[in-house]
Amino acid sequence: MRYVIGIDVGTSGTKTVLFDETGKVVASATVEYPMYQPQNGYAEQDPADWYNAAVSTIKTVIEKSGVKNTDIVGIGLSGQMHGLVMLDENGEVIRRSIIWCDQRTAKEVDEMNQKLGREKLIEITANPALTGWTAAKILWVKNNEPENYERCRHILLPKDYIRYMLTGEFATEVSDASGMQLLDVPNRCWSKEVCDALGIDMSLLAKVYESCEVTGKITRAAANLTGLAEGTIVVGGAGDNAAAAVGTGVVADGKAFTTIGTSGVVFAHTSKVSIDPKGRVHTCCAAVPGCWHIMGVTQGAGLSLKWFRDNFCQAEKDVAKLMGVDEYYLMDKEAETVPIGANRLLYLPYLMGERTPHLDPNARGMFFGLSAIHTKKDMLRAVMEGVAYSLRDCVEICREMNINVSDMMACGGGGTSPLWRQMLADLYNCPVKTASSKEGPALGVAILALVGAGVYKTVPEACEKIVGVDKVQQPVAENVPVYEKYFRLYDELYPAVKEKCAELAEL
Ligand code: XUL
Repeated sequence: MRYVIGIDVGTSGTKTVLFDETGKVVASATVEYPMYQPQNGYAEQDPADWYNAAVSTIKTVIEKSGVKNTDIVGIGLSGQMHGLVMLDENGEVIRRSIIWCDQRTAKEVDEMNQKLGREKLIEITANPALTGWTAAKILWVKNNEPENYERCRHILLPKDYIRYMLTGEFATEVSDASGMQLLDVPNRCWSKEVCDALGIDMSLLAKVYESCEVTGKITRAAANLTGLAEGTIVVGGAGDNAAAAVGTGVVADGKAFTTIGTSGVVFAHTSKVSIDPKGRVHTCCAAVPGCWHIMGVTQGAGLSLKWFRDNFCQAEKDVAKLMGVDEYYLMDKEAETVPIGANRLLYLPYLMGERTPHLDPNARGMFFGLSAIHTKKDMLRAVMEGVAYSLRDCVEICREMNINVSDMMACGGGGTSPLWRQMLADLYNCPVKTASSKEGPALGVAILALVGAGVYKTVPEACEKIVGVDKVQQPVAENVPVYEKYFRLYDELYPAVKEKCAELAEL
């Protein structure tokens, strides 16, 4: 039997999974790390935390599984997108990584629009200038920390930093590179026009590969640290969303998935480059060669529930510990006891600004309709519903763009909640399925590695063999119109307070 490893460099932790060639999990390990928020709207992580987590989880899965390292035919890397990692001439990290949910770059977004023009940017990079994407972060460092920019010789994305440490190669791949906003997305290569206009030296950028191509091999030093065999291949891999698409079999037109991780994403595969002229959803290269995807993103999905848990649910944490169950399982059970609409309470999940559909770094969260009758349980249900409404916003735009999203998978930590999946099924008014494997991004990049190693010929062929469907949640006919009324009201709330959020940001 041949084996393969998928590593997912997430925001809350790095997860490494060792699979056999049929996609069965043999061993898995996760190490968590902090996110630093030195100011409201800032978000940073330490690349050393990612690397230490990658090394220790690789080591653990090899040891736990007892698999011979020479039977591991390849490694795939997946990771949080858009994070900026800057290295000096010795390959040392210059500053903490400014990550995807950081919102400090409003000025740089204006600068990008001035230098290139909004239309030109959308034409080449398939997306409008975005605060969370890498190009604006590079300009921020240039404008605010010129001494750091001066020293920078290499710019990498989070998972590509791990690749550099494991293989010594400066490489990336099309799906994650799309989220840097320096890639010519229709042509799948760096754009000289964009880099020149923004004054970003192209020699700082890594070589771009397709996601299933081999980008390098494990060095002796990395082999000694991790227990991997020297020379094991590392394929391009994919940004976490494109990786989850492969891991849930979303590799053909008509297929889509919703993920509720720290962020929430509605992702639809397309074999044609399809761009929203209003820029409310992203268009990126898919991990399937010659294909693209569109993606609506809500910044604070799982993040909202985690925030609620950490600030208000100590009792649930204690009881869950005593009962030996997951805290989120108990919270789910509590939310289930509250009717749809949370007794007339709405929540806007904009804790870290919002992308789809508002594209507004100043957006902030809100409970609307709080009354003395409400309890923590109502607030908990409102948080879950608010996240589901914001995902429905993403589906609305896909449908407006004539992208078929009727074959919907659910994944991410939040996708394991039957209550959340039912909310999505009722709000999308279509069945919501789960994949037989819960390992979305890690399985996705493991599949890419199996293709890179020649075990399967193409990504769709590998998905066909490996990815199966597990549970299916059907929409409940009488719930649909009830949610619809709340959703319509939800959709009118943010526009009504948008100006006030901007004022708040200035105080
Ligand atoms: C996508 C995005 C997030 C991150 C976090 O554009 O920013 O989904 O990849 O994991």
